[in-house]
Amino acid sequence: PAATAACLLFGYLLGSIPFGLILTRMAGLGDVRKIGSGNIGATNVLRTGNKKLAAATLLLDALKGTVAVVVAGHWGLDAALAAGFAAFIGHLFPVWLGFKGGKGIATYIGVLLGVAPLMVLVFAAIWLGIAKLTRYSSLSALVATLAIPIVLFAMDDGKPAVLFTLMTVITWLKHRANIQRLLAGTESRIGDKG
Ligand code: G3P
Repeated sequence: PAATAACLLFGYLLGSIPFGLILTRMAGLGDVRKIGSGNIGATNVLRTGNKKLAAATLLLDALKGTVAVVVAGHWGLDAALAAGFAAFIGHLFPVWLGFKGGKGIATYIGVLLGVAPLMVLVFAAIWLGIAKLTRYSSLSALVATLAIPIVLFAMDDGKPAVLFTLMTVITWLKHRANIQRLLAGTESRIGDKG
């Protein structure tokens, strides 16, 4: 129990580091929460026009999930899953930003990389396919995160399937405004400036 609590805390603290906000500030681009969707994730960092910074945000936000899973994995699968979930929650609800964090897609991918690495290929194929067709980052993420638990359950991957179902439900809830914009036809597309 003490180890699990430590893994949860470690995961949460790691996940709560808002790399998108930090990198854009360091680059002198101001507060990324004041542009585009107001989100702190890679998609919104891209709306600053700086592709390298967006890529770095994606990578670092993903690594938070992977590192949490790999480090906690030392104490077994349950600890790894708990830490990964905590990192995801930390990214979405960081105490440092009044619990107003990101939407979780990069960290979702990072946790997936730590728990079921080959599934990242499934995620990437779906994300890239939908993005190529529609140029909607949010829609690509929504479809990819819907597919992951379905594939995991189909493969009978017990606990991970339950974890990613939960993470998918939470990230869909965080995408409510995006879903409304998609339905209204007003969602911004990749390449549009914020
Ligand atoms: O991964 C986040 C993406 O799905 C939506 O980001 O900034 O368009 O709300 P944004």
